[in-house]
Amino acid sequence: MLTNKRILLIIGGGIAAFKSLDLIRRLRDQGASVTPVLTKAAEEFVTPLSTSALAAQKVYRDLFDLTDEAEMGHIELSRAADLVVVAPATADLMAKMAHGHANDLASTLLMATDKRVLIAPAMNVRMWEHPATQRNLAVLRGDGVLVAGPDEGNMACGEYGPGRMSEVPDIIAAIDAALGDGPLKGRHVIVTSGPTHEPIDPVRYIANRSSGAQGAALAAALRDLGARVSFVTGPAKVPPPAGVDVIRVETAAQMAEAVAAAHPAEAAIFAAAVADWRVENASGSKMKKDASGNAPALEFTENPDILAGVAQMAAGRPKLVVGFAAETDDVVANASAKRARKGCDWIVANDVSPETGIMGGPENRIVLITDDGAEEWPRLPKDDVARRLAQRVAEALGAN
Ligand code: C5P
Repeated sequence: MLTNKRILLIIGGGIAAFKSLDLIRRLRDQGASVTPVLTKAAEEFVTPLSTSALAAQKVYRDLFDLTDEAEMGHIELSRAADLVVVAPATADLMAKMAHGHANDLASTLLMATDKRVLIAPAMNVRMWEHPATQRNLAVLRGDGVLVAGPDEGNMACGEYGPGRMSEVPDIIAAIDAALGDGPLKGRHVIVTSGPTHEPIDPVRYIANRSSGAQGAALAAALRDLGARVSFVTGPAKVPPPAGVDVIRVETAAQMAEAVAAAHPAEAAIFAAAVADWRVENASGSKMKKDASGNAPALEFTENPDILAGVAQMAAGRPKLVVGFAAETDDVVANASAKRARKGCDWIVANDVSPETGIMGGPENRIVLITDDGAEEWPRLPKDDVARRLAQRVAEALGAN
């Protein structure tokens, strides 16, 4: 059942749009509310009146409809849903999404949303197989967009092959899965990610090379298991995943504050590469060279250890506290010592020596250090490491 789930349904301009009317009806039968958006091309296939009648809601049609803006702005509209579904997703809509166009209501909503997006592609088989569409599909998948179908079969245009929009029950199953009744449903998990920037003066800072890739993948994997994720991220290169609560910070002190504000949580995972020190004598105005040629002397002070602080909380400590240890030598020994020192339950240790290509790279090879000892995992894509770790977190918290 999809009781009380809110779906923003973007209907693209394809012959399969007629199936989307049935999709609206069946979603409502399951208890969901559906806010429909029609592209201009979609109006050639279904009428706003029938769409609105089936949804029992206003249909949104044009970005520049000022009445709509007064009722609900497009940014708000894009976020007032649990899931954004694009059905049918035409080749054109997919191309727009992949390239970040925002020149009509549908594409603008898709750019502005902070929710997960599920597409049900539908197009002629040649269009589906065209390298441009396949390229766009790969980009969209990389962006975390979920894809249902297309099916193979006879098409309205008379050709045969993949390109038919999935049948409505299959799209509903994909929606169900996306809205996740996973083992972490209802559980709150805090994840820190990315580097921190510690200012020297208003224009200069000290940072590190963390891309935030592992933290973002982990947040996405926890979300996929149904967790509510508070994702506290420094200025990372990798964008945060959709469908998590993003709290952007810059410095370690801000990260500590954001983590404190996110409690209570059942698990807290500290994947951020927090700067150990900040500049104590940071200047409030831009530092200038002076005639003497003397370089300024920076004085450092230690940042709060966020992980240790949470691991050693007197009251309200998350049941599971996980730290990361980026090491360049004696990985297991150093990481085990760190686990004891910080008081966390697990340490995810990895070798970040430059020759491993792990820091900022697509793969990771970790050693998971728990009460039971050190477990060496094979070298895997960061997404796979994240999925395995999320699964372990679910097991540790006990399935719902
Ligand atoms: O001590 P070290 O920086 O190697 O420990 C790494 C682990 O501690 C990571 O999980 C990191 O997110 C966390 N950490 C923290 N606050 C700090 C320093 C590290 O949460 N100030």
